[in-house]
Amino acid sequence: MSKQKILVARAVFPETIARLQQHFEVEHNQADAAWSKHDLIARLQGKAGAFTTGTERIDAEVLAACPELKVCANMAVGFNNFDLPAMTARKVLGTNTPDVLTETTADFGFALLMATARRIAESEHYLRAGKWTKWSYDMFAGSDVHGSTLGILGMGRIGQGIARRGAHGFGMDVIYHNRSRLAPDLEAACKARYVSKEELLKTADHLVLVLPYSAESHHAIGAKEIAQMKPTATLVNIARGGIVDDAALAQALRDKKIAAAGLDVFEGEPKVHPDLLTVPNVVLTPHIASATVPTRQAMADLAADNLIGFLVNGKPLTPLNPEVLK
Ligand code: DGY
Repeated sequence: MSKQKILVARAVFPETIARLQQHFEVEHNQADAAWSKHDLIARLQGKAGAFTTGTERIDAEVLAACPELKVCANMAVGFNNFDLPAMTARKVLGTNTPDVLTETTADFGFALLMATARRIAESEHYLRAGKWTKWSYDMFAGSDVHGSTLGILGMGRIGQGIARRGAHGFGMDVIYHNRSRLAPDLEAACKARYVSKEELLKTADHLVLVLPYSAESHHAIGAKEIAQMKPTATLVNIARGGIVDDAALAQALRDKKIAAAGLDVFEGEPKVHPDLLTVPNVVLTPHIASATVPTRQAMADLAADNLIGFLVNGKPLTPLNPEVLK
């Protein structure tokens, strides 16, 4: 029997391609060429499955143009690049990569928080620019992390990982806001207290965003929300671009409405709002929160397992719309 055809839309570990080739006829993009939507549609013709990352948008237009497509396996836990209702309507399965990146991403959230609060990037740029000629008492004085109040907006697995690090490692008082409150045992494990969004904004010394992107979370943090934060507060976004109004944040940083921000995700990335590039009190990283070698390998493995699991064995591991399996 001939093998089913799949498309791997972006460059990935060669081992992942080799493994997929054992089960499928694979068209890949190891050159990591930038494909337009038109290119993606053309390459998906005749493919039963797609290995995607957060950068390929699978929407109603793509689905209508690719009637043979049965599954899209995202190598990401976030799946805002999928129009899931449209996929479900066409009986196309979507899968993502939860769990395997939780601790690595929580590590990074904490690293960005520390770098932001302690002005690490700003002071390093100063030193590299040859501006350090003498020590002074207030040079790059930032804010404490230990013993401060950590606010978390979005309390899924990654949010809980950040809460545990803050509470147990740094003696922080952890407060959170989420669509739904955690079960008491999970709250106890994170030593976290549920508060309203308003109280979270007003009380947090360090606010970390870990909520999924959706129409409801678009610009969840804009000028109005920043105005409610302490002028000494820091804001960290490791969730998705679009959750923060980047223009409003750049203005607020310039006006010292809050002390500093750490951003791993941006509206319209890989473009970055030009005003964010010119304010000093922001740490900017290129969407790398899950980027360790073992974790990226685990994400690629899970995305491949989902394709093989579904197309070969009828059993995907982490389906997003399991109703299409019925
Ligand atoms: C994720 O897994 O959603 C990360 O943001 C990488 O895309």
